[in-house]
Amino acid sequence: MKNEINIIALDGPAASGKSTLGERLANYLGFVYLDTGVMYRAVTLAVLKQNVDVEDETSVVQVAEKMDLDFCPPSCSDGRSNDVILEGEDVTWQIRKPEVEAYVSLVSTYPGVRNAMTMQQRKIASKGGIVMVGRDIGTVVLPNADLKIYLDASVEVRAERRYNELIHRNQNPDFDFILSDLKRRDEIDSTRTVAPLKPASDAIIIDSNKMDAEQVFQNLVDIIKTRKLN
Ligand code: DC
Repeated sequence: MKNEINIIALDGPAASGKSTLGERLANYLGFVYLDTGVMYRAVTLAVLKQNVDVEDETSVVQVAEKMDLDFCPPSCSDGRSNDVILEGEDVTWQIRKPEVEAYVSLVSTYPGVRNAMTMQQRKIASKGGIVMVGRDIGTVVLPNADLKIYLDASVEVRAERRYNELIHRNQNPDFDFILSDLKRRDEIDSTRTVAPLKPASDAIIIDSNKMDAEQVFQNLVDIIKTRKLN
């Protein structure tokens, strides 16, 4: 174990709270924050926009390899952490829409798509000072990360949190749909052949079933402080 922490890998299943935690941790440390789920979502959106068949793996991989994706500081304060720019267009909220949600897990199973994203992610991380969030960061993308965290919670707890979050955003969520959709995504993400969702053998697993976001954050800060002292 190294005590100099420069690269942090934060993985976990959908709706485990890793994006909120990752962004907060990056701000706290003065690090760059990269949510790699956004990249897979952007590929899926680009595929849909170009009317490419999501089942046509070769064409989907071509879209991923050519995709022009950029992250910019937030242009407005509507809850976004940054602007996601795809081919010059602000798609920050489009990548969250149900059509993208429906196909992103399938698109993420294609090895060529993963390869293209992994290369970009490694390039971004090469400058250091980063918290990278995803499913395969500790296992595949950054196996030499200084600190690997796997944030877990039961599917029921995650569904409940997602439901409350949508209520809070004045939407009209259906709990049973959220629960079954999370189960569907967990199944695809964790059983795919390439880079499945799983904790790295040297990851610290945080079980957030009985912790709120604040407690999880404090737990992580304690882990980092302890690591620096050793
Ligand atoms: O974290 P998220 O829900 O925004 O991720 C969207 C999808 O992207 C998720 O279903 C799996 C995929 N993904 C992945 O395969 N590998 C990553 N490193 C990040 C996300």
